[in-house]
Amino acid sequence: MHELAKIPYIGCGIGLRSDISDETFARSREIDTVEIISDKFFSDRIARNIAYLEKAKSYFRVIPHGIKLSIGSASPIPEQYLRDMKWLTDDVGAYYYSDHYALTHDDDMLDIGHLSPLWFTKEMLAHVCSRVDQIQQFIGKPLVLENITAPFTIPEADYEEPEFISRVCEKTGCGLLLDVTNVFINAFNQKKDAMQLVRQYPLQNLVHIHLAGGEIHEGVFYDSHSQGISGDNEGVWPLLEYVAMHANIRALIIERDENFGEEFEDLVMKDLRRAKQIVESSRLVGSARNSRGG
Ligand SMILES: [Fe+2]
Repeated sequence: MHELAKIPYIGCGIGLRSDISDETFARSREIDTVEIISDKFFSDRIARNIAYLEKAKSYFRVIPHGIKLSIGSASPIPEQYLRDMKWLTDDVGAYYYSDHYALTHDDDMLDIGHLSPLWFTKEMLAHVCSRVDQIQQFIGKPLVLENITAPFTIPEADYEEPEFISRVCEKTGCGLLLDVTNVFINAFNQKKDAMQLVRQYPLQNLVHIHLAGGEIHEGVFYDSHSQGISGDNEGVWPLLEYVAMHANIRALIIERDENFGEEFEDLVMKDLRRAKQIVESSRLVGSARNSRGG
């Protein structure tokens, strides 16, 4: 088991995206860390991408975040994919590697093209745990997996999603990447209380946070990463405040993947400052509490 407790505080930042990379580099004094999409730097290792990675490393602490692990797939994880995960994690000096509780493809036979929810059965739990063990052993660092949004829940499951995630964390010692916006969106779409839902995740294993803004269309909330965290997304903030007071957040990333038309300030910086203020003031409260021994 890898000790999550050894992971230090990294800071708050944003997802590095080519549409906003000039502005991101220009604001490096205010942005502690950036998250990169790992798969863009794998295997082919295109020289242009590697040069971009080197530049990112020279400005920021870089955190790798994959989208094609497909932890629930039946076919074995390709050896090359494991080697790529280890290479990138070591190359950027990351404390952990992250991806999702999801299916994206199986072998070369089927590619769903997006993150699809797992079927939360006992069989899937055993399968996911053995793959998490395999990855953690191979890369020599913790794997940190993220909750995703689910447009529907697959029937006849043995667990609800938070319980499934708690069991994986408990059995493998892996970390939790809690996408707070995904919790908020799932609560909205499943007509649940978001604050009650967020409390069910294994916050003792929490390492990393994602925040983003989604959109409502015809009564359904979509995880579009296309909005600031305000308006319909305002309810994300009290959830972050709760999590910050009850977990040891090492990194927080604002994700923005679409709708880049606004000024960079409104795209991500306002939200980043607000998030950082919540994370860092809760860290101060936590250290004051620890130094009093309470
Ligand atoms: Fe996310």
